[in-house]
Amino acid sequence: MSSAKNVVVAVVGATGAVGEVLLRVLEERQFPVRQLVPLASTRSAGKTITFAGEAVEVQVACPEAFEGVDLVFFAATGGLSKELAPEAVKRGAVVIDKSSTWRMDEQVPLVVPEINADALEKHRGIISNPNCTTTGLVMALEPIRRAAGLKSVVVTTFQAVSGSGTPGIEELDAQVKAKVAGEPAPEPTVFASPIAYNAVPFCGAAMDDGYLDEERKLLDETRKILGLPKVDVSVTCVRVPIPVGHSGAVLVETETPLSPEAAREALDAFPGVTVVDDPATGKFPTPAEVEGSDEVLVGRVRKDYGSDKLWLWEVSDNLRKGAATNAVQIAEALLERELV
Ligand SMILES: NC(=O)c1ccc[n+]([C@@H]2O[C@H](COP(=O)([O-])OP(=O)(O)OC[C@H]3O[C@@H](n4cnc5c(N)ncnc54)[C@H](OP(=O)(O)O)[C@@H]3O)[C@@H](O)[C@H]2O)c1
Repeated sequence: MSSAKNVVVAVVGATGAVGEVLLRVLEERQFPVRQLVPLASTRSAGKTITFAGEAVEVQVACPEAFEGVDLVFFAATGGLSKELAPEAVKRGAVVIDKSSTWRMDEQVPLVVPEINADALEKHRGIISNPNCTTTGLVMALEPIRRAAGLKSVVVTTFQAVSGSGTPGIEELDAQVKAKVAGEPAPEPTVFASPIAYNAVPFCGAAMDDGYLDEERKLLDETRKILGLPKVDVSVTCVRVPIPVGHSGAVLVETETPLSPEAAREALDAFPGVTVVDDPATGKFPTPAEVEGSDEVLVGRVRKDYGSDKLWLWEVSDNLRKGAATNAVQIAEALLERELV
């Protein structure tokens, strides 16, 4: 076990969209990093990144890179997590994985610390971080569940291009630049259709039953994190031309009726959630204002016309609370509980 001031940290995917934010969040939160080991592919090996004011060379991710490492954040590809996370655990490290590889494994805790930090106690070396869209959704659902129970959820997501990493951001940029210049936009390679000035109801990959794997992740992960294996979660995922910040329009059915006022109160009292909801001034949460923040912002809380269900709108920074910040919070909780 490492002492609280003595953690050797490796970041696999340190040069990617999530990895870069992760490094900044470790610095901001003054996570007690004794030594940082940034890892990536041969494409980035030898480059330097800056951490805590020092230049550190990026190395190739391989099993031997985990010798002497206490904690490894995986923010690369699912395939790499599958191959290398067990190698890191074998060498005594605890892994926090950002990919979907281990999330639904019964032996692997899937954790949003404000909701289910206790699940960390049973970890066997690997802990999963949820999908970036799931995290914002469950943060908005948990306070309502605690106040009035949860029967069913219907959600349509509006997902930023950075949810597909640096290539997603670059594809939007290139298409917008071409549109502005009046030139033909480059063919899409990351998204199913052109994303500039568009909305694309397709995130991830199609499954045989007509759903997208992203939609299935939201259903399965919400059930696992909330510990409600039977709750109905109906999902439509849409990619929108926004750099950072995932949103969801959510219809929530509670076990007992909950007024919008009581829901706002429960949401605002929950750590990590802030209510921004002022119809008189038109002040509601937007992705542009959540970028760079760790809060999940919730607004448009209102009663459904035809039922006791509640509508709400939630937004979160997919690279921070949806990915890096949540992972660092997991690491902090592990240290607090002396589980690393
Ligand atoms: N973006 C989000 O909002 C978000 C949210 C939650 C979870 N995630 C998950 O987080 C992970 C990283 O996503 P991202 O958005 O940061 O992707 P990204 O911007 O494409 O970055 C990918 C990173 O992985 C590295 N990498 C790729 N293949 C590798 C290999 N074979 N060996 C070693 N390193 C390799 C890349 O290194 P090089 O520089 O060498 O190419 C880069 O550092 C993914 O599993 C993703 O599903 C992303």
